Amino acid sequence: MTRFTVNNQPVEYRLDPQTPLLWALRDASNLTGTKYGCGTGQCGACTVDVDGQARRSCQVAIGTIEGSYVTTIEGLSRERNHPVQLAFLAENVVQCGFCIPGFVMAAAALLRRNPDPSEQVIRDTLTNLCRCGVYPRVVEAVQRAGR
Ligand code: FES
Repeated sequence: MTRFTVNNQPVEYRLDPQTPLLWALRDASNLTGTKYGCGTGQCGACTVDVDGQARRSCQVAIGTIEGSYVTTIEGLSRERNHPVQLAFLAENVVQCGFCIPGFVMAAAALLRRNPDPSEQVIRDTLTNLCRCGVYPRVVEAVQRAGR
């Protein structure tokens, strides 16, 4: 049994401790906002927050995060949109939208550490992949969210 907290709720998973967090969230907890893209840690579609750090959940075995605090896109902001989500809307970032939860989670983690990141810092930190190529609008939105 692996125990940790997801979106402020205690959870217990009776799964192999090697199970990727991505699949525990999606299949056991039905938190499908966290997306499966590559499964190899490359794309960032599966990004969630683990103890304040943006982590690629396909690469995090649940047995390694016992007692941790996990936040998914569903738990980022419960009552209204998070400032990063509002900025993504204002900048019309979304095209197909598949990669967006991962970008939002990575951006929120960045802005907690650095509320005024330069374009270079944003590009260096948000290494998530987007097949639609919305990267310039992501940069604009992250800067807007930090203002
Ligand atoms: Fe985890 Fe692509 S699905 S990085």
